[in-house]
Amino acid sequence: MIKQAIIPLAGLGTRMLPLTSVMPKELIPINGKPNLEYILEECLSAGIKEFIFIISEDKSAIKKYFFNDKFYKKIIKKKKDKRIKKEFAKIKKYQKMIKFVYQNKPKGTGDAVLKCKKLIKNKFFLMLLADDLIINNNCSKEMISLHKKTKSSVIATKKVNKTEVSRWGILSIKNKRKNYFQISDVIEKPKVKNAPSNFAIIGRYILPSKIFGEIKNLKPGSGGEIHITDAIKNLIKKNYKFYGNIFKGKYLDCGTINGYINSGKIISRGKK
Ligand code: G1P
Repeated sequence: MIKQAIIPLAGLGTRMLPLTSVMPKELIPINGKPNLEYILEECLSAGIKEFIFIISEDKSAIKKYFFNDKFYKKIIKKKKDKRIKKEFAKIKKYQKMIKFVYQNKPKGTGDAVLKCKKLIKNKFFLMLLADDLIINNNCSKEMISLHKKTKSSVIATKKVNKTEVSRWGILSIKNKRKNYFQISDVIEKPKVKNAPSNFAIIGRYILPSKIFGEIKNLKPGSGGEIHITDAIKNLIKKNYKFYGNIFKGKYLDCGTINGYINSGKIISRGKK
């Protein structure tokens, strides 16, 4: 059963400067709603019951966004505004589900995952990267059903342009079916000539709790960071099964200003 979702939120957001000099990128709105809320909604409708947010002290605004009761109560008392009451009720619901862990040095996704070790209760958990929005079809839900079928780990994937593989983690494919395949290897941001395919990792992972042991043994990889991709690679070598879920929804890259602008346009147009 996949009931817990971890969401790394400690990144510096340099690609989104100057906005991120005063505000975490995950709170920047897309069509009137913070990016992070899209991620939470996807999790809720996929049956997730607990969120673990990995933040840093510099990103305390995320905590404040969800835990600011005094402020809301004061405003609601004064204004009796229905919309504010509704928003507060939504935030109260999330409040009960959120736990925080801290990653004060941006040492990579692998390091962020390791910080959650003590809080993970089951054999598998979900991880979502907030830069990657997937709309029109719930990707986490698709992945959970593939996990139930295969009893294995699952990574969201889509085909990307062959010339752009160096931007992503790339998967090697075994036994391809229509909407999924077994992953025989992963490589983080390969050169075009070294890429085993053009199936890229998109930010949704169902990971086994075994991954914590693997991360502990990792040495920093490219950019001096501990990459989750390298821990996955080692687990696959040890015969842990990972599947790529070729998701049906539309992928929106929210990691850059242009991506954000574009995502806002697409979401405001409605389903496409
Ligand atoms: C991370 C992962 C990469 C994955 C990507 C998806 O990279 O390391 O494997 O393809 O997310 O968005 P980042 O975007 O942090 O450079």
